[in-house]
Amino acid sequence: MAPVRFGVLTGGGDCPGLNAAIRAIVRKGVDGHGHELIGFQHGWRGPIEGEWTDLSIDAVRGILPRGGTILRSSRTNPLKHDDGLERIRANMQQLSLDGLIAIGGEDTLGTAEKLHEVGVPVLGLPKTIDNDLNGTDVTFGFDTAVQVATDAIDRLHTTAESHNRVLVVEVMGRHAGWIALHSGIAGGADVILIPERPFDIENVCTHLKRRHERGRYFSIVVAAEGATPLEGTLATLGGETDEFGHERLGGIGQVLEREVEARTGFETRATVLGHVQRGGTPTAFDRVLATRCGIAAIDAATEGRWGTMTALRGTRIELVPLADAVASLKTVPPQDFAVAEAFFG
Ligand code: F6P
Repeated sequence: MAPVRFGVLTGGGDCPGLNAAIRAIVRKGVDGHGHELIGFQHGWRGPIEGEWTDLSIDAVRGILPRGGTILRSSRTNPLKHDDGLERIRANMQQLSLDGLIAIGGEDTLGTAEKLHEVGVPVLGLPKTIDNDLNGTDVTFGFDTAVQVATDAIDRLHTTAESHNRVLVVEVMGRHAGWIALHSGIAGGADVILIPERPFDIENVCTHLKRRHERGRYFSIVVAAEGATPLEGTLATLGGETDEFGHERLGGIGQVLEREVEARTGFETRATVLGHVQRGGTPTAFDRVLATRCGIAAIDAATEGRWGTMTALRGTRIELVPLADAVASLKTVPPQDFAVAEAFFG
Protein backbone atom coordinates (compact mmCIF):
# COMPACT_ATOMS: atom_id res chain seq x y z
CA MET A 1 0.00 0.00 0.00
CA ALA A 2 1.27 3.51 -0.85
CA PRO A 3 2.30 5.54 2.22
CA VAL A 4 -0.02 8.29 3.40
CA ARG A 5 1.25 11.69 2.19
CA PHE A 6 0.52 15.06 3.74
CA GLY A 7 1.54 18.60 2.82
CA VAL A 8 2.44 21.33 5.29
CA LEU A 9 2.60 25.10 4.77
CA THR A 10 3.23 28.23 6.84
CA GLY A 11 1.33 31.37 5.77
CA GLY A 12 1.02 35.01 6.78
CA GLY A 13 3.44 36.87 9.01
CA ASP A 14 6.07 34.52 10.40
CA CYS A 15 6.53 34.03 14.12
CA PRO A 16 8.88 32.26 16.52
CA GLY A 17 7.86 28.62 16.95
CA LEU A 18 6.96 27.80 13.34
CA ASN A 19 10.00 25.59 12.91
CA ALA A 20 9.25 23.80 16.19
CA ALA A 21 5.75 23.00 14.85
CA ILE A 22 7.09 21.78 11.48
CA ARG A 23 9.66 19.61 13.27
CA ALA A 24 7.00 18.03 15.49
CA ILE A 25 4.73 17.25 12.50
CA VAL A 26 7.60 15.62 10.62
CA ARG A 27 9.09 13.70 13.54
CA LYS A 28 5.77 12.21 14.62
CA GLY A 29 4.48 11.89 11.06
CA VAL A 30 7.48 9.99 9.72
CA ASP A 31 8.74 8.12 12.80
CA GLY A 32 5.42 7.63 14.58
CA HIS A 33 2.98 7.09 11.72
CA GLY A 34 5.18 6.11 8.78
CA HIS A 35 3.85 8.96 6.59
CA GLU A 36 5.57 10.92 3.84
CA LEU A 37 5.54 14.68 4.22
CA ILE A 38 6.18 17.53 1.84
CA GLY A 39 6.42 21.24 2.60
CA PHE A 40 4.77 23.80 0.36
CA GLN A 41 6.87 26.95 0.15
CA HIS A 42 5.91 30.60 0.56
CA GLY A 43 2.52 30.13 2.19
CA TRP A 44 -0.43 29.63 -0.17
CA ARG A 45 1.80 30.50 -3.13
CA GLY A 46 3.33 27.01 -2.78
CA PRO A 47 0.22 24.92 -3.43
CA ILE A 48 -1.01 27.38 -6.08
CA GLU A 49 2.25 27.41 -8.06
CA GLY A 50 3.39 23.90 -7.14
CA GLU A 51 6.45 25.06 -5.15
CA TRP A 52 7.36 22.39 -2.63
CA THR A 53 10.19 20.53 -0.94
CA ASP A 54 10.55 17.14 0.79
CA LEU A 55 10.15 17.22 4.54
CA SER A 56 12.32 14.39 5.79
CA ILE A 57 13.68 13.84 9.31
CA ASP A 58 16.99 15.24 8.04
CA ALA A 59 15.29 18.40 6.75
CA VAL A 60 14.06 19.29 10.23
CA ARG A 61 17.23 18.56 12.18
CA GLY A 62 18.42 21.47 14.34
CA ILE A 63 15.46 23.76 13.64
CA LEU A 64 13.71 23.63 17.04
CA PRO A 65 15.25 26.86 18.41
CA ARG A 66 15.38 28.69 15.07
CA GLY A 67 13.07 31.63 14.41
CA GLY A 68 11.36 32.12 11.05
CA THR A 69 10.16 29.19 8.97
CA ILE A 70 12.20 26.80 6.84
CA LEU A 71 9.19 26.73 4.47
CA ARG A 72 9.20 30.51 4.03
CA SER A 73 5.96 32.47 4.11
CA SER A 74 3.89 34.97 2.15
CA ARG A 75 0.60 36.82 2.32
CA THR A 76 -0.64 35.28 -0.94
CA ASN A 77 -4.43 35.00 -0.88
CA PRO A 78 -5.68 32.14 -3.13
CA LEU A 79 -9.09 33.82 -3.38
CA LYS A 80 -7.43 36.76 -5.16
CA HIS A 81 -5.91 34.46 -7.81
CA ASP A 82 -7.82 32.95 -10.73
CA ASP A 83 -9.00 29.48 -9.75
CA GLY A 84 -6.77 29.67 -6.65
CA LEU A 85 -8.67 27.02 -4.68
CA GLU A 86 -8.99 24.71 -7.70
CA ARG A 87 -5.29 25.01 -8.47
CA ILE A 88 -4.51 24.01 -4.90
CA ARG A 89 -6.80 20.99 -5.19
CA ALA A 90 -5.25 20.02 -8.54
CA ASN A 91 -1.66 20.35 -7.26
CA MET A 92 -2.48 18.30 -4.19
CA GLN A 93 -3.93 15.58 -6.40
CA GLN A 94 -0.92 15.64 -8.69
CA LEU A 95 1.36 15.21 -5.68
CA SER A 96 -0.84 12.36 -4.39
CA LEU A 97 -1.49 14.20 -1.14
CA ASP A 98 -4.02 12.82 1.30
CA GLY A 99 -4.35 16.11 3.13
CA LEU A 100 -2.82 19.44 4.08
CA ILE A 101 -1.82 21.02 7.40
CA ALA A 102 -1.97 24.82 7.20
CA ILE A 103 -0.07 26.69 9.90
CA GLY A 104 -1.21 30.28 10.13
CA GLY A 105 -3.27 33.05 11.60
CA GLU A 106 -6.70 34.45 10.72
CA ASP A 107 -5.98 34.89 6.99
CA THR A 108 -4.22 31.58 6.34
CA LEU A 109 -6.75 29.62 8.38
CA GLY A 110 -9.63 31.55 6.81
CA THR A 111 -8.42 30.24 3.46
CA ALA A 112 -8.04 26.75 4.93
CA GLU A 113 -11.69 26.89 6.01
CA LYS A 114 -12.73 27.93 2.46
CA LEU A 115 -10.82 24.94 1.09
CA HIS A 116 -12.47 22.66 3.62
CA GLU A 117 -15.88 23.98 2.53
CA VAL A 118 -15.17 22.87 -1.05
CA GLY A 119 -14.08 19.41 0.09
CA VAL A 120 -10.28 19.73 0.22
CA PRO A 121 -8.87 17.73 3.18
CA VAL A 122 -7.20 20.43 5.28
CA LEU A 123 -6.78 21.25 8.95
CA GLY A 124 -5.27 24.19 10.78
CA LEU A 125 -2.55 24.83 13.31
CA PRO A 126 -2.76 28.33 14.85
CA LYS A 127 0.16 30.72 15.12
CA THR A 128 0.49 34.48 15.42
CA ILE A 129 2.37 36.89 17.60
CA ASP A 130 -0.89 38.90 17.74
CA ASN A 131 -2.70 36.20 19.80
CA ASP A 132 -5.96 37.27 18.14
CA LEU A 133 -7.25 33.88 16.96
CA ASN A 134 -10.43 32.62 18.48
CA GLY A 135 -10.86 29.03 19.62
CA THR A 136 -7.49 28.83 21.33
CA ASP A 137 -6.42 30.42 24.61
CA VAL A 138 -2.98 31.40 23.29
CA THR A 139 -1.14 31.17 19.98
CA PHE A 140 2.56 30.37 19.82
CA GLY A 141 4.71 33.35 18.90
CA PHE A 142 2.84 35.60 21.32
CA ASP A 143 4.94 34.76 24.37
CA THR A 144 8.17 35.51 22.49
CA ALA A 145 6.84 38.79 21.10
CA VAL A 146 5.72 39.89 24.57
CA GLN A 147 9.13 39.00 26.01
CA VAL A 148 10.93 40.98 23.29
CA ALA A 149 8.66 43.99 23.84
CA THR A 150 9.02 43.76 27.63
CA ASP A 151 12.82 43.65 27.37
CA ALA A 152 12.68 46.74 25.16
CA ILE A 153 10.39 48.58 27.58
CA ASP A 154 12.76 47.76 30.48
CA ARG A 155 15.63 49.27 28.51
CA LEU A 156 13.62 52.32 27.51
CA HIS A 157 12.66 52.88 31.15
CA THR A 158 16.21 53.60 32.26
CA THR A 159 16.95 56.04 29.45
CA ALA A 160 13.54 57.72 29.84
CA GLU A 161 14.38 58.32 33.49
CA SER A 162 17.86 59.67 32.78
CA HIS A 163 16.49 62.27 30.36
CA ASN A 164 13.11 63.09 31.94
CA ARG A 165 11.40 62.04 28.72
CA VAL A 166 8.16 60.48 27.67
CA LEU A 167 9.04 57.43 25.59
CA VAL A 168 6.37 56.02 23.31
CA VAL A 169 6.83 52.36 22.34
CA GLU A 170 4.89 51.21 19.28
CA VAL A 171 4.33 47.45 19.24
CA MET A 172 2.55 45.17 16.75
CA GLY A 173 -1.15 44.36 16.85
CA ARG A 174 -3.40 45.77 14.18
CA HIS A 175 -6.84 44.67 15.39
CA ALA A 176 -6.06 43.38 18.86
CA GLY A 177 -3.92 44.90 21.58
CA TRP A 178 -2.68 41.72 23.27
CA ILE A 179 1.04 42.45 22.83
CA ALA A 180 0.62 46.05 23.99
CA LEU A 181 -1.45 44.97 26.98
CA HIS A 182 0.83 42.18 28.19
CA SER A 183 4.16 43.89 27.53
CA GLY A 184 2.75 47.13 28.94
CA ILE A 185 1.65 45.44 32.16
CA ALA A 186 4.91 43.46 32.43
CA GLY A 187 7.00 46.55 31.68
CA GLY A 188 5.09 48.88 34.01
CA ALA A 189 3.75 51.23 31.31
CA ASP A 190 2.08 54.45 32.43
CA VAL A 191 -0.40 54.45 29.55
CA ILE A 192 -1.34 51.62 27.17
CA LEU A 193 -3.25 52.23 23.93
CA ILE A 194 -4.97 49.36 22.11
CA PRO A 195 -7.19 49.14 19.01
CA GLU A 196 -10.15 47.90 21.05
CA ARG A 197 -10.28 51.15 23.02
CA PRO A 198 -10.05 54.31 20.85
CA PHE A 199 -8.12 56.91 22.84
CA ASP A 200 -8.57 60.56 23.63
CA ILE A 201 -5.21 62.27 23.31
CA GLU A 202 -6.21 64.78 25.99
CA ASN A 203 -6.78 61.91 28.46
CA VAL A 204 -3.38 60.48 27.60
CA CYS A 205 -1.78 63.86 28.32
CA THR A 206 -3.74 64.21 31.57
CA HIS A 207 -2.29 60.90 32.80
CA LEU A 208 1.23 62.00 31.92
CA LYS A 209 0.84 65.41 33.55
CA ARG A 210 -0.55 63.80 36.71
CA ARG A 211 2.53 61.62 36.88
CA HIS A 212 4.76 64.67 36.64
CA GLU A 213 2.75 66.45 39.32
CA ARG A 214 3.45 63.49 41.59
CA GLY A 215 7.18 63.87 41.03
CA ARG A 216 7.78 61.26 38.30
CA TYR A 217 9.40 63.15 35.44
CA PHE A 218 9.46 60.37 32.88
CA SER A 219 6.80 58.11 31.42
CA ILE A 220 6.38 55.09 29.17
CA VAL A 221 3.46 54.92 26.73
CA VAL A 222 2.93 51.57 24.97
CA ALA A 223 0.80 51.83 21.83
CA ALA A 224 -0.37 48.99 19.60
CA GLU A 225 0.19 49.87 15.94
CA GLY A 226 -3.58 49.64 15.43
CA ALA A 227 -4.41 52.03 18.29
CA THR A 228 -6.71 54.74 16.97
CA PRO A 229 -7.81 58.10 18.31
CA LEU A 230 -11.47 58.68 19.08
CA GLU A 231 -13.14 59.74 15.86
CA GLY A 232 -12.38 63.27 14.80
CA THR A 233 -9.85 63.95 17.57
CA LEU A 234 -6.54 63.37 15.78
CA ALA A 235 -5.32 62.72 12.23
CA THR A 236 -3.27 59.52 11.60
CA LEU A 237 -1.47 58.15 8.55
CA GLY A 238 -2.97 55.70 6.04
CA GLY A 239 -1.01 53.03 4.15
CA GLU A 240 -1.13 50.52 1.30
CA THR A 241 -2.94 47.19 1.69
CA ASP A 242 -1.93 43.53 1.19
CA GLU A 243 -3.88 40.77 -0.65
CA PHE A 244 -6.01 40.17 2.43
CA GLY A 245 -6.96 43.87 2.46
CA HIS A 246 -4.95 44.75 5.57
CA GLU A 247 -3.48 48.22 5.69
CA ARG A 248 0.27 48.43 6.26
CA LEU A 249 0.33 50.05 9.68
CA GLY A 250 2.98 51.89 11.62
CA GLY A 251 2.93 55.56 12.38
CA ILE A 252 0.88 55.93 15.56
CA GLY A 253 4.13 56.19 17.56
CA GLN A 254 5.23 59.23 15.54
CA VAL A 255 1.82 60.86 15.84
CA LEU A 256 1.89 60.40 19.62
CA GLU A 257 5.46 61.70 19.85
CA ARG A 258 4.42 64.92 18.13
CA GLU A 259 1.09 65.40 19.92
CA VAL A 260 2.20 64.51 23.44
CA GLU A 261 5.17 66.87 23.24
CA ALA A 262 3.06 69.69 21.78
CA ARG A 263 0.26 69.29 24.34
CA THR A 264 2.31 68.66 27.50
CA GLY A 265 5.61 70.37 26.79
CA PHE A 266 7.41 67.15 27.91
CA GLU A 267 10.20 66.00 25.63
CA THR A 268 8.85 62.90 23.87
CA ARG A 269 10.45 60.27 21.64
CA ALA A 270 9.00 57.26 19.85
CA THR A 271 10.50 53.80 19.32
CA VAL A 272 8.88 51.46 16.81
CA LEU A 273 9.72 47.83 17.65
CA GLY A 274 8.36 46.43 14.38
CA HIS A 275 9.60 43.08 13.11
CA VAL A 276 12.08 42.65 15.95
CA GLN A 277 9.04 41.21 17.76
CA ARG A 278 8.68 38.48 15.13
CA GLY A 279 12.29 37.48 14.69
CA GLY A 280 14.71 35.29 16.54
CA THR A 281 14.56 32.30 18.79
CA PRO A 282 11.24 31.30 20.43
CA THR A 283 10.83 31.22 24.21
CA ALA A 284 10.59 27.80 25.86
CA PHE A 285 6.83 28.32 26.24
CA ASP A 286 6.40 28.89 22.49
CA ARG A 287 8.61 25.92 21.60
CA VAL A 288 6.54 23.63 23.80
CA LEU A 289 3.17 24.99 22.60
CA ALA A 290 4.24 24.75 18.93
CA THR A 291 5.51 21.21 19.50
CA ARG A 292 2.29 20.11 21.21
CA CYS A 293 0.19 21.64 18.40
CA GLY A 294 2.38 19.97 15.77
CA ILE A 295 1.93 16.55 17.36
CA ALA A 296 -1.84 17.09 17.71
CA ALA A 297 -2.07 18.26 14.07
CA ILE A 298 -0.34 15.23 12.57
CA ASP A 299 -2.37 12.90 14.80
CA ALA A 300 -5.57 14.67 13.68
CA ALA A 301 -4.54 14.42 10.01
CA THR A 302 -3.85 10.72 10.48
CA GLU A 303 -7.39 10.32 11.84
CA GLY A 304 -8.85 12.39 8.97
CA ARG A 305 -10.16 15.13 11.30
CA TRP A 306 -10.36 17.68 8.45
CA GLY A 307 -11.85 21.11 9.02
CA THR A 308 -10.49 21.32 12.57
CA MET A 309 -7.81 23.38 14.28
CA THR A 310 -5.53 22.43 17.16
CA ALA A 311 -6.19 24.65 20.16
CA LEU A 312 -4.87 25.23 23.66
CA ARG A 313 -7.88 25.06 26.00
CA GLY A 314 -6.76 25.50 29.57
CA THR A 315 -3.80 23.15 29.83
CA ARG A 316 -4.93 20.66 27.14
CA ILE A 317 -4.53 20.66 23.36
CA GLU A 318 -7.89 19.97 21.73
CA LEU A 319 -9.42 20.11 18.26
CA VAL A 320 -11.97 22.85 17.53
CA PRO A 321 -13.90 23.52 14.30
CA LEU A 322 -11.85 25.74 11.96
CA ALA A 323 -15.03 27.64 11.10
CA ASP A 324 -15.45 28.71 14.74
CA ALA A 325 -11.84 29.79 15.04
CA VAL A 326 -11.96 32.12 12.02
CA ALA A 327 -15.49 33.48 12.49
CA SER A 328 -14.29 36.48 14.50
CA LEU A 329 -11.11 37.82 16.08
CA LYS A 330 -10.22 37.39 19.73
CA THR A 331 -9.86 40.91 21.08
CA VAL A 332 -8.89 42.23 24.52
CA PRO A 333 -11.92 42.19 26.86
CA PRO A 334 -12.60 45.28 29.01
CA GLN A 335 -11.82 43.44 32.26
CA ASP A 336 -8.31 42.59 31.02
CA PHE A 337 -7.71 46.20 30.03
CA ALA A 338 -8.94 47.34 33.45
CA VAL A 339 -5.93 45.58 35.03
CA ALA A 340 -3.59 47.80 33.01
CA GLU A 341 -5.67 50.94 33.60
CA ALA A 342 -5.16 50.66 37.36
CA PHE A 343 -1.56 51.79 36.73
CA PHE A 344 -2.18 54.68 34.33
CA GLY A 345 -0.78 58.07 35.28
O1 F6P B 1 0.12 39.26 11.73
C1 F6P B 1 1.27 39.47 12.44
C2 F6P B 1 1.80 40.88 12.20
O2 F6P B 1 3.08 40.91 12.75
C3 F6P B 1 0.94 42.01 12.73
O3 F6P B 1 1.12 42.26 14.09
C4 F6P B 1 1.40 43.15 11.87
O4 F6P B 1 0.42 44.13 11.77
C5 F6P B 1 1.67 42.50 10.56
O5 F6P B 1 1.93 41.15 10.82
C6 F6P B 1 2.79 43.08 9.76
O6 F6P B 1 2.81 42.44 8.54
P1 F6P B 1 3.99 42.55 7.48
O7 F6P B 1 5.18 41.85 8.06
O8 F6P B 1 3.45 41.85 6.30
O9 F6P B 1 4.24 44.00 7.28
